[in-house]
Amino acid sequence: MAADWTDSLNFGLSLAKQASQVVMEAYELRTEEFTCKSSAADLVTQSDVKVENFLKSAIGSKYPQHRFLGEESVAAGERLELTDLPTWIIDPIDGTVNFVHGFPFVAVSIAFCVNRQTEFGIVLSCVDQKVYYARRGGGAYCNGRRLRVSEQQDVSKCLVVTEIGAERDDLALSTMTSNILTLLKLPVHGVRALGTAAVDMCQVATGAADVYYHVGMHCWDIAASAIIVQEAGGVVMDTEGSRFDMMSRRVIAASSSVVAHRIARAIRAFPCSRDDAEPSQ
Ligand code: IPD
Repeated sequence: MAADWTDSLNFGLSLAKQASQVVMEAYELRTEEFTCKSSAADLVTQSDVKVENFLKSAIGSKYPQHRFLGEESVAAGERLELTDLPTWIIDPIDGTVNFVHGFPFVAVSIAFCVNRQTEFGIVLSCVDQKVYYARRGGGAYCNGRRLRVSEQQDVSKCLVVTEIGAERDDLALSTMTSNILTLLKLPVHGVRALGTAAVDMCQVATGAADVYYHVGMHCWDIAASAIIVQEAGGVVMDTEGSRFDMMSRRVIAASSSVVAHRIARAIRAFPCSRDDAEPSQ
């Protein structure tokens, strides 16, 4: 009989709650120092590292045979490679810029994959204490309430969510701003950005937003929220219209296939290297 991973899901939910407490203690102090990683907008704090180390050691103790792929471990030089082995994909604080500023959208994101397929995803939005989660074939929930996408088919009635992102080279900035201009001219009802890809995508799962797109984020930002959108009845795909690949750094998450493909035709992606690309020599 195939494993149903219920114990792992329950363990992940309990870890997310503990991690959120650590995040909120630091968030309320508002004294966090940061350093920059790949750009002036790609930040890391002591809390990112502390929460990731907590999650990594708790998972390693309970499931020594499982693998771990975390934002800060990769930033510290660990190889980013998704294999067929059970793997936890973690963003300890999604929305680190928000966290540093006290802007109230920060999340702990935990996805669990086996045979490169996501079995469950958990996004805990720390300030408003919303626990979004989904299990493959089992539906998506927020604080116990079943989630359903809006099923909007008409792009001109869509509330779109996206992100400015951390990529700040000229091509990334001009592509990102011209995409927003194109969408506003379609027109759509509006464009929003909360500063955390994980929570942004959960807005599509709840039906509050109709579509999300993003180029340049990483697998840990969206692995958990992708299954939450899918299990809420949404469509998740590549910005080129092809199959979703969490390593590609491109995603559209939509309330319907019609809207997903309309957005794919409207926007452009700038080139960024895959998350699992071989490190350059
Ligand atoms: C960031 C957030 C942000 C997105 C960036 C991500 P982090 O994650 O998800 O919304 O635009 O691309 O890097 O660094 O706060 O974990």
